[in-house]
Amino acid sequence: MTGKIVLLPGDGIGAEVIYAAKDVLEAITKKYNKPFEFSSYDIGGVAIDNHNTPLPDETVKACKNADAVLLGAVGGPKWDNNPSDLRPERGLLGIRKALDLYANLRPVKGFKKLLHASPLKEEIIQGSDLLIVRELTGGLYFGQPSERFDNGNAVVDTLAYTRKEMERIIDKAFQSAELRNKQLTSVDKANVLESSKLWREIVEEKKADYPNVTVDHVLVDAAAMKLITNPTQFDVIVTENMFGDILSDEASVLTGSLGMLPSASLAEDGVGLYEPAHGSAPDIAGKGIANPIAMILSAAMMLRYSFNMNEEAQAIEDAVEKIVNQNYYTADLKNDNGELVNTTEMTQLIVDAI
Ligand code: NAD
Ligand code: IPM
Ligand code: MN
Repeated sequence: MTGKIVLLPGDGIGAEVIYAAKDVLEAITKKYNKPFEFSSYDIGGVAIDNHNTPLPDETVKACKNADAVLLGAVGGPKWDNNPSDLRPERGLLGIRKALDLYANLRPVKGFKKLLHASPLKEEIIQGSDLLIVRELTGGLYFGQPSERFDNGNAVVDTLAYTRKEMERIIDKAFQSAELRNKQLTSVDKANVLESSKLWREIVEEKKADYPNVTVDHVLVDAAAMKLITNPTQFDVIVTENMFGDILSDEASVLTGSLGMLPSASLAEDGVGLYEPAHGSAPDIAGKGIANPIAMILSAAMMLRYSFNMNEEAQAIEDAVEKIVNQNYYTADLKNDNGELVNTTEMTQLIVDAI
């Protein structure tokens, strides 16, 4: 059976790294005789330019009919002053909502060889291996009203969640913890926010369903601090949409670069979308120097979650680790004695290692 994969390259380095993932998947096809069929659709800024909307209907339709979706990144200075509904980011939020991708899994595991690439002390980050489970289709990003009033002199954004929306992401996090080290940290702001109070209640209720998992609650401000002062205390972190967005970029520092952090955005039942945690990186776009590893590892997550191809996913992860261990690195990773390579060279090294 041929796996139907929709590619959404998007903008900036998104369009550069997505072809790295495609090359790697083609290497998997050759080695394991697993055919994939690729088609590409516009999203984000490029879709605004070509179709006057960040999320054309045909893009949504193609994603719904696919077995899995790979997304690069969206956004860039060209569209930064557009009205809200004509911003590239709206396309990304729209596709997440349209596919009901409520669960964003962001694994944060550094490679030993890259310990020195982090500005944090090696003894602090050594052995850190955590998973951020971020709610992706609710909270401040989607609540209404979200607008200006009083002639533009006042604003409102709405942080809204239903119990059901909280329950499903919290269940997902407990289930993820059961498959890992059985330790769940729920991050909230229950000392202030009503939404966090309900969140915390639900986590407490759910404990009974997952007796093997130990649970603690940490306020988000303290969590931000603990993440970089004592990251090995965490196994699975579960949190709402915006807290998860911020904490995951912070956590990428443990791995040496945001360019190392993959993610899976999953629905309850339906197509999954796989996207690096990073953005379109306008500061390096067009230079061919972006780190493709976050995107390549996202493709490995796709094989695992959408195609149940565990061996093939592992082959990609092993190839990445091998090349990193051989001391090849892209410009975002600090390395004093390795060999600096660009996006294409890094991709080719990983392809050859498969
Ligand atoms: P960013 O993630 O694009 O970049 C932050 C920094 O990390 C930059 O210095 C960039 O060069 C570096 N970086 C990121 N990925 C890298 C990689 N693979 N290799 C090497 N270096 C990398 O965040 P930003 O600059 O705040 O945002 C830029 C644009 O991207 C904005 O329009 C934003 O809305 C958008 N964005 C999109 C997504 C997405 O599509 N999923 C995610 C985040 C930001
Ligand atoms: C991410 C990004 C997006 C988010 C933006 C571009 C809407 O930062 O995927 O982490 O905040 O979810
Ligand atoms: Mn983000």
